[in-house]
Parts: sequence; C-alpha cells; structure tokens
Amino acid sequence: MAKRPLIETAVFPVAGRGTRFLPATKASPKEMLPVVDKPLIQYAVEEALAAGARRLVFITGASKRAIEDHFDSDQELENLLKSQGKSDLVKQLHSVLPSYATCIYIRQPAPLGLGHAVLCARPAVGNEPFFVHLADDLIAADEPVLAQMADVYSHKRASVIGCEPVPRQDTDKYGIVAVEAAGGTARIRSIVEKPKPDKAPSNLAVVGRYLLSPAIFEHLARIGRGAGGEIQLTDGIARLLQEEAVYAYRFSGKRYDCGSKLGYLQATVAYALAHPQLGADFRRHLKTVVKTPAKTRRQ
Ligand code: UTP
Repeated sequence: MAKRPLIETAVFPVAGRGTRFLPATKASPKEMLPVVDKPLIQYAVEEALAAGARRLVFITGASKRAIEDHFDSDQELENLLKSQGKSDLVKQLHSVLPSYATCIYIRQPAPLGLGHAVLCARPAVGNEPFFVHLADDLIAADEPVLAQMADVYSHKRASVIGCEPVPRQDTDKYGIVAVEAAGGTARIRSIVEKPKPDKAPSNLAVVGRYLLSPAIFEHLARIGRGAGGEIQLTDGIARLLQEEAVYAYRFSGKRYDCGSKLGYLQATVAYALAHPQLGADFRRHLKTVVKTPAKTRRQ
C-alpha cells in the first residue's frame, strides 16, 4: 500500500446554531454535547489526530467559547485535582489535546452556511489538501474514517468525500452524489444538495467527512447562496468536480447522526454499551428497562 500522505490540517466547522437541540444549544454549542464522557468535538479531534492532522482549525460562531475552553489547559483545575490526589483525572485532562497539536480558532461572522464556514478556514489551510470533519456525524470504526480517506488519497491524489447509502425517502436531508461506477471508491459525476426522493440521482449520501483539494476555496469564493439561502459546500464541490476528479468513498464504520435527537440517543447507548468501565452495568440496566412496560416506568 502507498504511504499515507500527511494531511496536516483538519477543519471543524462548529458555527451552526444547532436549532434541532434547542434549548440545550441556546448557550452551549451542539459540539459540546457529551456522548458518555467526552464531547462530540473531542471524538472529532481524536479522529483527525489519528489520521495524522496536527493543525486543528475550528470555525466558531456565537456561543462557542466552551470549545476553546475545552481544548485550553486549566491549571487551576489541575492544581485542585492534584491536591486531592486525583492523578488519574489529571492524566485524562492532559489527554484532551496532545502537545504536538495546534488549535486555531477563526470566527465565522454569521452562519452563512457550511461552504462559507469552510471558506473562512482558507488563511489557515493555505495551498494544501485538508480534512473537513463535522462533529455531529459520529462514526464508530476500527480504523478512523479520516485515516481511511487519507489512504484513498494516497492512491488517487484527489479530493475524497465520505459517503453512505441512505433510505430513498431521506435523500432530502443530504448532499447526494451520482458516481461513475459501483464499488467502495468511485469518481463522482454529479452532486446535488438535498434533492427530493423522486429527483435524487441516487441514494448515496455525503456524510460529514471530506478530504478536499485547496482548489475548493476559489469555487466557494465565487458561488452565491444556494439551498436555504446558504453558501453550500455541496455547490462548491459541484464546481470542483468539473475541473478535477473528486471521489466518493463508502467508509467502513457505523455512523450516528448526533445532530438529531434520535441519532444522538442511539450513539449514547452504543458508546455506553461499549464503554470499558460502564458497559456491563449499563447492559444489565437496559435489560431491566426494556422488560418493564412503558406505562409502569417512572419518568
Ligand atoms: P447543520 O446543517 O447540522 O446545521 O450544519 P446546524 O446549525 O449545526 O444544526 P441545526 O440543523 O440548526 O440543528 C452542519 C455543520 O456545519 C456547521 C455546523 O456547525 C455543523 O457542524 N455550520 C453550518 C457552520 O459551521 N456554519 C454555518 O453557517 C452552518
């Protein structure tokens, strides 16, 4: 296998308003919602680091300070934990961000869309390929999905988009691609944002993982507002693939849409069951809950 290239920069657009989770996301970002004991953005950063990224670019907006605080060191808290002899917890705090990683925060002045958020990263990314990771798509995988995509890049030397088939009736929730051939990795012929099921070119949906050529920035800078009055990343990719190859990659892993309440709860249950310390107790508890008829359960 070709050596995995170094994709140094990962961009995390975290400037959306997370309206589907209101009021939980009124003052606190959606990306700080915990799945068991880590916020979504922590899973995202760990995946990017595992794929080789070192420069972490967060595109932030209103009410997102908690993300910066999360990745800063907190000497006061560490001193308190040390004085209480809780060295395990101090170690956990240190593992939030390794010292070789650099965080860059760029403010998106208004939530003008995912494409606009990615364009805001341009000064930090420069002229290199880069990852884009949407933290609310949490994917449990043996090999982190961004690392799988970097492997594809090492063969194709072109943009790679994480994709998965979705039920036909759900095409209007996703960017949908038409590809040139069946199989795990295929060149994209066309891409369209949130098509109605009867208009969708396929049921292969774009999920929140991208490895993009820097040529995307020129396209994002030129396109106007698309669906929903927002500058859509999908529209930028549609222009990009007229100039250079862009590949759809069917990742291996189980995706949880943590931007929706049901997906978030499903992720919480799956990660709790897989948790090394909690899993066995939680499984026992779940068994008692699902056996009890809903009417007799205490709220
Ligand atoms: P979503 O479509 O999930 O929107 O954005 P949202 O605002 O976060 O959530 P809802 O739909 O209101 O509940 C997809 C990703 O793009 C980012 C979001 O933070 C999320 O990671 N985004 C979206 C931005 O960074 N800026 C934007 O202007 C829009």
